[in-house]
Amino acid sequence: MSKQVYNFGAGPAMLPVPVMERIRDEFLDFQGMGISIIEISHRAKQFEKVLVDAQERFRQLTNLPDNYKILFVHGGARMQFSALPLNLAGRSATKKCLYVETGNFAKLAHKDAKPFGDIRVIASSAATNYDRIPVLDPSMIDQDAAYLHLTGNNTLYGSRWQTFPETGAVPLIVDQTSEMLSRVLDFSKFGCVYAGLQKNLGPAGTAIVVIREDLLEYASPQTPTLLNYKVCAADNSLTNTANTFAIYVTGLVLEWLHEQGGVAAIEKVNEQKAQILYKLIDSGDFYRGVILPEFRGTMNVSFNLATPELEEKFLKEAGAAGLYALKGHRSVGGIRASIYNAMPLAGVEALAGFMQEFQRKNG
Ligand SMILES: Cc1ncc(COP(=O)(O)O)c(C=O)c1O
Repeated sequence: MSKQVYNFGAGPAMLPVPVMERIRDEFLDFQGMGISIIEISHRAKQFEKVLVDAQERFRQLTNLPDNYKILFVHGGARMQFSALPLNLAGRSATKKCLYVETGNFAKLAHKDAKPFGDIRVIASSAATNYDRIPVLDPSMIDQDAAYLHLTGNNTLYGSRWQTFPETGAVPLIVDQTSEMLSRVLDFSKFGCVYAGLQKNLGPAGTAIVVIREDLLEYASPQTPTLLNYKVCAADNSLTNTANTFAIYVTGLVLEWLHEQGGVAAIEKVNEQKAQILYKLIDSGDFYRGVILPEFRGTMNVSFNLATPELEEKFLKEAGAAGLYALKGHRSVGGIRASIYNAMPLAGVEALAGFMQEFQRKNG
């Protein structure tokens, strides 16, 4: 038995152990075919079933209305930063697209969109180092805009939109990369949501895009075929060779989530896990939370210690104790515990125990 390691990496992140075991067990012989899932054609009937089952399971877990398409697209979440304006800016005569900047990825989203529309940042929390979600008054949402883009959960910091704003006729687009299926959301409120798979769903490099059908009609003629959501929907994500392995793993993760009781059940566990860490952080000033309490999410818990040297010591000793990848993102520093759906309660308890002991010795 190898030593117990808990992986707190922000992504690629840990996957549920039973999913990993199943992948191992059927890797060389997929469903009695005598060959691996990664060797069969994306057009084989066995793979098509994998794809359709994953889509159906996702639809069921999110209670997704029938007028939404579920796409698997190449290039991870960041590719969608360009694909979104290419597909949707045409909804507005002036290609006006609204963005709220709540962190590093929210900033990259509007930066990457810039060549393809009249990109407006209508609110930002940059001035306070993204320690909050800025106020967004409905009057700030220009009803002529093609869409409003938000980042649901800000991976580097751990803030999230606790509720999403009413946007009137303007479709709401949400980057859910670091919170997909971690809490119950009403998908009928969104025009489009998307997520790189590598946190709550599967391997990196592919994204899931969930889009309302009426939004498939606005792609600019310059949209590359593989970024065109209408083409992708028409081909059911098989325009070219899909990332069959990523879709297969996602299907297994969705199955696992279903077995855990679905999104409502995992949301409760996620809250419990995050509260264990936040309670400890709030119990004194040894650990200092990065995000104002009312904006905290449950997926990424970020905090600092008094000095960079003490943080270095924390990371070194945590690593030796089997608590892996707790270093904050290079642009933020400090400590970040990413505790996605697959992180068991026991992993968070192990971290909390370590934190208490570290404080006792160094406080
Ligand atoms: C919120 C968010 N959006 C986008 C991305 C970029 O994802 P990808 O690396 O799949 O392009 C990340 C990656 O961590 C993320 O956390």
